[in-house]
Amino acid sequence: MNTIPHTALSLDNAIIAFLGGGAMAGAMIQGLTRAGVQADHLRAADPVESQRRLLADRHGIPVFTSNTEAVQGAQVVVVAVKPGVVAGVLDAVAPLLAADTLVLSIAAGITLATLASHLPAGQPLARVMPNTPALVGAGISALLPAPQTPTPHRLLARRIMESVGLVEEIDHEALMDGVTALSGSGPAYVYLIAEALSDGGVASGLPRPLADRLAVRTLLGAAKLMEETGLHPGVLKNQVTSPGGTTIAGLEPLERNGVRGALMAAVLAACQRSRELGAPRQS
Ligand SMILES: NC(=O)c1ccc[n+]([C@@H]2O[C@H](COP(=O)([O-])OP(=O)(O)OC[C@H]3O[C@@H](n4cnc5c(N)ncnc54)[C@H](OP(=O)(O)O)[C@@H]3O)[C@@H](O)[C@H]2O)c1
Repeated sequence: MNTIPHTALSLDNAIIAFLGGGAMAGAMIQGLTRAGVQADHLRAADPVESQRRLLADRHGIPVFTSNTEAVQGAQVVVVAVKPGVVAGVLDAVAPLLAADTLVLSIAAGITLATLASHLPAGQPLARVMPNTPALVGAGISALLPAPQTPTPHRLLARRIMESVGLVEEIDHEALMDGVTALSGSGPAYVYLIAEALSDGGVASGLPRPLADRLAVRTLLGAAKLMEETGLHPGVLKNQVTSPGGTTIAGLEPLERNGVRGALMAAVLAACQRSRELGAPRQS
């Protein structure tokens, strides 16, 4: 049984067990070790041998084939499996959790109510939606603690996610589908844009490696400028759009081809999919 009282819960002393050792678990483990969490305070369970070996070799953390072994003595259990297997994973580990173990779920679309229905009543619980830039410490996560979750557990959930980027705490679960659609899935939209910009550069005669570098740095620089100045993207766009110039000539086909509408539709489609994943299954 866990004997650490709530007041002593901290990133320095918590044992954090990841159920599922895939891409997002790996990113979080990397962030936590970078933030100074000792490897022997982290552990992961995954059925895939190559995943376990990767995590053990890269981060020196203990790895397990069985979720039930991994959760023994853990103060935090991170549910990092695909949404479809969350219920089965929680059913198996629930009887082994200490009453004050924090369950932190990153599974897209799985609601607090669904998570809680597979856990003992009153279990500290939070949902979080991270994104893959967490791998390089540049993630953004939306965090939603369940109402019964005590303050020390909320703070610990926040600290864990801050180790891989910024954290936005939200208080309405309905927002989570939009978060999933925008920042959770969003990196893929940006990669597609980067690839297309590079293609445009190549079409203009640039060598591919140069076009790739220019595309990435343009996205990174523009994002940094938006963040650091706090200026609205429309204002920044207008600042670089001189009358009859090259930029307005480039913007015209973007507008004519409905790029704004396409990006909005992408977020809405992903939001709808997140809602479907979270909807109770019809049998
Ligand atoms: N990747 C993202 O950008 C992102 C962003 C936000 C949230 N998420 C959420 O994060 C969760 C994990 O996503 P991911 O991209 O990291 O997926 P992933 O790379 O497929 O990792 C999941 C891992 O869990 C393993 N697994 C399957 N069943 C298991 C079980 N019963 N017990 C323990 N491990 C099991 C999988 O093995 P198999 O390959 O054999 O199934 C896989 O290695 C998902 O719920 C997703 O919604 C992901």
